[in-house]
Amino acid sequence: MTDTTQNAGATEPRSKTKRTRWLKPVVFLLCLVPIFWLIARALTGGLGANPIEAITRDLGDWALRFILIALAVTPIRVLTGWNTIGRLRRMLGLFAFFYVILHFSSYIGLDQFFYWSGIWQDIVKRVYITLGMAAVLMLTPLAVTSTDKMIKRLGGRKWRRLHRLVYPAAVLGVIHFYMMLKADYTEPAIYAVILACFFGVRIYKKWA
Ligand code: HEM
Repeated sequence: MTDTTQNAGATEPRSKTKRTRWLKPVVFLLCLVPIFWLIARALTGGLGANPIEAITRDLGDWALRFILIALAVTPIRVLTGWNTIGRLRRMLGLFAFFYVILHFSSYIGLDQFFYWSGIWQDIVKRVYITLGMAAVLMLTPLAVTSTDKMIKRLGGRKWRRLHRLVYPAAVLGVIHFYMMLKADYTEPAIYAVILACFFGVRIYKKWA
């Protein structure tokens, strides 16, 4: 769902690719830790007095964190020259979408219990839900077009332009988080600063 085509020119020597073959499966397993940790806490009564709220919030936190982690790939590559990390971008982007969908499903199924008219009222009336929904709608075509086949079909340029939607989606995710809080805005503020740094690196890369 993020920009995998940018890595197309960064061909690595085969020996190096062999040496870093472990990277993808290790990162894959690390990406599953939050969901398994959540399941473990749910099964052992470790989610506090309101487990449904805890599940929705935890998944929301990880959805936003993974969007930012996926977005961190390009700045890390630009600043360090570590091209191998580019190979993780698609997987990290898909994990971001995985946590977004789990968060959304937890709201629909656990929080609202598939009460569709209530869900619709929420989407229309509560601005932070409207923004969250808009972010999901932006991320969905990115997940759908994340395959090599779709990159080929769309063409690199069109595909890259489409996948820039991840930036407004990330901004909406941060605003969504900020708006649902009543006090202590530290966490969304940290995410906003991180996102601003990513934009900074993007602008630097364009003009350098
Ligand atoms: C890219 C999309 C989204 C991201 C990144 C995201 C992220 C988050 C984050 C970070 C939180 C705060 C968690 C905390 O308090 O620590 C949150 C809360 C919440 N989100 Fe989302 N969200 C997204 C989409 C949605 C959508 C589509 C819905 C519903 C239609 C939704 C419903 C909620 C609700 C209801 C809460 C509050 C949970 C509670 O207090 O019980 N979110 N979200």
